[in-house]
Amino acid sequence: MSTSGKTFDLVVAANRLPVDRVVASDGSKQWRRSPGGLVTAMESVMSEHDGAWVGWSGEAGDAPEPFVENGMYLRPVPLSEDELQQYYEGFSNGTLWPIFHDVIVPATFHRQWWYAYERVNRRFAEAVAELAADSGTVWVHDYQLQLVPAMVRELRPDVRIGWFNHIPFPPVELFAQLPWRKALVEGLLGADFLGFQRVADAHNFLRACRRLHAFTTRGDTVSFTGKRGVQRVVRASAIPISVDFKGLDALARTPEVVARAQQIRESLGNPATLLLGVDRLDYTKGIRHRLKAYAELLTEGAVAPPREVFVQVATPSRERVDAYRELRAEVEGEVGRVNGEFGRIGHLALQYLHHSYPRSEMAALYVAADVLLVTPLRDGMNLVAKEYVACRHDGGGALVLSEFTGAFHELHQAYVCNPHDIEGLKQTIIRALKAPEGERRRAMKAMRRRVADHDVQRWASRFLEALAAAPERPVRQLAEVTG
Ligand code: ADP
Ligand code: F6P
Repeated sequence: MSTSGKTFDLVVAANRLPVDRVVASDGSKQWRRSPGGLVTAMESVMSEHDGAWVGWSGEAGDAPEPFVENGMYLRPVPLSEDELQQYYEGFSNGTLWPIFHDVIVPATFHRQWWYAYERVNRRFAEAVAELAADSGTVWVHDYQLQLVPAMVRELRPDVRIGWFNHIPFPPVELFAQLPWRKALVEGLLGADFLGFQRVADAHNFLRACRRLHAFTTRGDTVSFTGKRGVQRVVRASAIPISVDFKGLDALARTPEVVARAQQIRESLGNPATLLLGVDRLDYTKGIRHRLKAYAELLTEGAVAPPREVFVQVATPSRERVDAYRELRAEVEGEVGRVNGEFGRIGHLALQYLHHSYPRSEMAALYVAADVLLVTPLRDGMNLVAKEYVACRHDGGGALVLSEFTGAFHELHQAYVCNPHDIEGLKQTIIRALKAPEGERRRAMKAMRRRVADHDVQRWASRFLEALAAAPERPVRQLAEVTG
């Protein structure tokens, strides 16, 4: 039980709380919305549940006291400075993130990082076990917490445990590089239901169960003998995440957002075409490839500012991890080079913004943009693509979308690109830019229908229903586990 003794029917565990403790410019400490798609999605889901959220506050040291925010009980988990380096920057983002994203940069393996990962996962599991009501539901998120399902099962065999992976799950040939691959699979198999973005991700996981553990899989289930000889069946299937379509659609229609979109265009010199990129500054997002393609289009005169203007919003991310530092230096160097060569007084060729913005500003940018460039080399879903579609109530806009995103498997009418193929990417950008109005509108209408029908509320209901319907544990097994 929690220190307050209060327990919850639904407990969410994610590396980050929905709010992040940051130091403001005046030195005061403030709570700000946490970065990333996980928080965007779960925020709107949790507003409909009376639940608890276990996560890290975003700063090293002692954890703040639990508090209530937007009707949600938030339970901060402490991370020491060493754990921040070893569990978060190290194992989560230096080891797992590259392996789970096609090794776009090499993965680093350190035993100390793994020990910290185990220790922090246990801390999360203990907090969850304290807060979950009898026979409650526990929903664990993402690659940072893969050991939590089995740890919670040990502590609380009465609860239902689900896990959702917001990022891709790698092919077994890459996953097998991890020295701790078997322990990770065992950690996940503590859950009753495992959700993935794509069918291929679920298949990759099931293949890892077969290849690394010789467990039997059938359809989307894996059967195995668990702790104390207990027979268990776990389901692993695809439930792609989405956005709050109604909320974004309504926000984008507000007079403030519509006026701000107009103002953005005016301040950019009312270009014929405004191209936009919105990403965390992450090497998986294909920002370098996008800039290269754009620079070549400028060189060839296929685009020419101020007729065409490109705005790249790059949210600060994982700034102490080497690969992210290098990416930032490279991107900012290239932005400077492009502007030096192609900019004119009063007209930048490329606007680069390294900031976080409120939701209304993001919506205004989406409404203002004629073409959104989503070019990741690998991305679990890419909610930005779906947010753009949800905000285009006017039926305008064109989406250039990488085939290596989860969103590609749903938004078939987008202008599809392979970001590794720079020539092809350039042609796709030009095609989107020059597409006849009718073609763009038809595409946007179809994509809006898809996102409206498959919104984040439906994603959450589908996940929780699948978890509730997960194979029941036999009575004999329950007696053994609890006895
Ligand atoms: P990831 O989870 O890898 O960051 P997604 O595209 O799935 O990628 O989700 C990113 C989320 O972060 C979206 O909800 C998007 O609106 C939000 N976001 C991206 N850039 C910014 C920014 N500069 N300011 C505020 N929110 C942002
Ligand atoms: O889903 C990818 C993810 O790692 C999420 O866990 C998180 O919402 C987002 O990216 C942002 O990353 P971080 O929490 O490391 O800043």
